[in-house]
Amino acid sequence: MGSKVLVIGSGAREHTIAYTLLKSPTVDEVTVIPGNPGMERDGIKTSQLSVTNHAALNDYVKDNGIDWVFVGPEVPLMEGIVDDFAAAGIKAFGPNRAAAQIEGSKDFAKRLMEKYDIPTAAYRTFDELAPAEAYVREHGAPIVVKADGLAAGKGVTVAMDVESALKALEDIFVDHRFGAAGAKVVIEDFLDGQEFSLMSFVDGENFWPMPISQDHKRAYDNDEGPNTGGMGAYSPVPQIGQDVVDTAIETIVRPMCKAMVAEGVPFTGILYAGLIATADGPKVIEFNARFGDPETEVVLPRLTSDLNAGITAILEGRTPEFTWTDKGATLGVVLASDGYPVNVIKGAHVPSIPVDEDSHVYYAGVEAGSEPGSLVADSGRVLFVQVHADSIKAAQDKVYGIIDKLEIPGMFYRHDIGAKALK
Ligand code: AMP
Ligand code: GLY
Repeated sequence: MGSKVLVIGSGAREHTIAYTLLKSPTVDEVTVIPGNPGMERDGIKTSQLSVTNHAALNDYVKDNGIDWVFVGPEVPLMEGIVDDFAAAGIKAFGPNRAAAQIEGSKDFAKRLMEKYDIPTAAYRTFDELAPAEAYVREHGAPIVVKADGLAAGKGVTVAMDVESALKALEDIFVDHRFGAAGAKVVIEDFLDGQEFSLMSFVDGENFWPMPISQDHKRAYDNDEGPNTGGMGAYSPVPQIGQDVVDTAIETIVRPMCKAMVAEGVPFTGILYAGLIATADGPKVIEFNARFGDPETEVVLPRLTSDLNAGITAILEGRTPEFTWTDKGATLGVVLASDGYPVNVIKGAHVPSIPVDEDSHVYYAGVEAGSEPGSLVADSGRVLFVQVHADSIKAAQDKVYGIIDKLEIPGMFYRHDIGAKALK
């Protein structure tokens, strides 16, 4: 009998994780809670249980003979879902509440990086407006203002002038735009260079890095518009050399895993390092305690080993095996509801999207429409169209060949995913 796995979450990231698990020859059944109706098109089960009711989730796992749980998003991790599963004797892959602070508190992450000499932008932390304003005026621009705590990727202002930085401080301290997440602010030096994401499977001091990828955080073409959760991604990232990746592994990932163990908060799960390749070598912009979204949608399709076998090995204290293809490029584009990320207008009709063996649709913010089997948009990021091709250029041509033909009133997308790799 194969494994039964439960995935917690509802986005295109969780769709990708569930789809990859379901393709594994050692898996019989994958359920996602709460999931979305787009996932069901791939034979993934969903259940509408509340993710915050940990006691009910424990019962569900036991009643349904689930072998282990994968936790996708950061919020349940921060709320201690892995601690509660562990207390009930359930195997769950992800950091406990203490280790998830690496993402949940930018201040915690920064202090650890400082203590263990992990390269990152110089920073100061403030919990009051006046000294923060004084620091910005004295430091000058460019400068970066970040609300401490979880703000779904939207709590960061990269200010190219002092005015915008002061405005960001006002948003946080006076208008309380990020609620409790803005009670503290981290102000850091601007890092110049290309961004890339380096994710690893982690078990204490041991880790297994994945191929790197690049996200596109701004809403519109040419990196214009507000920061979003991510509008598209591709992997690998040819303009970032293997020497830079090797340096990032040795100066960032390895010491960070060691630091978490040394601090008594060992990390198990997916460690996401958001990095900038500066003239001075790779530096950290952020750590996340989970898979990136949309990076996962282009990285996991490159896995050539059995995801269930790999994670099960980690959960059982054995050495896992993860292997990846080095062939061609994987690239994908988010279709988002009009107005995202500021003022999302829900309800757009989701058309059927033609795919082949080298392309796939991963659904995110969708709900069932009034016609049987139809889907409508019910959130900002609606779905992700992923393709594989021989090169980044070929992947771009293929993905836009699919998307440009769609009738999608009420939705928009970026037309330049992967462009930085082609300059
Ligand atoms: P974060 O939520 O920390 O990932 O920040 C969101 C985005 O802001 C990042 O993806 C970067 O594009 C940008 N950013 C954050 N910190 C810096 C920095 N110190 N220097 C330059 N850009 C940054
Ligand atoms: N794509 C960035 C993130 O998942 O945080």
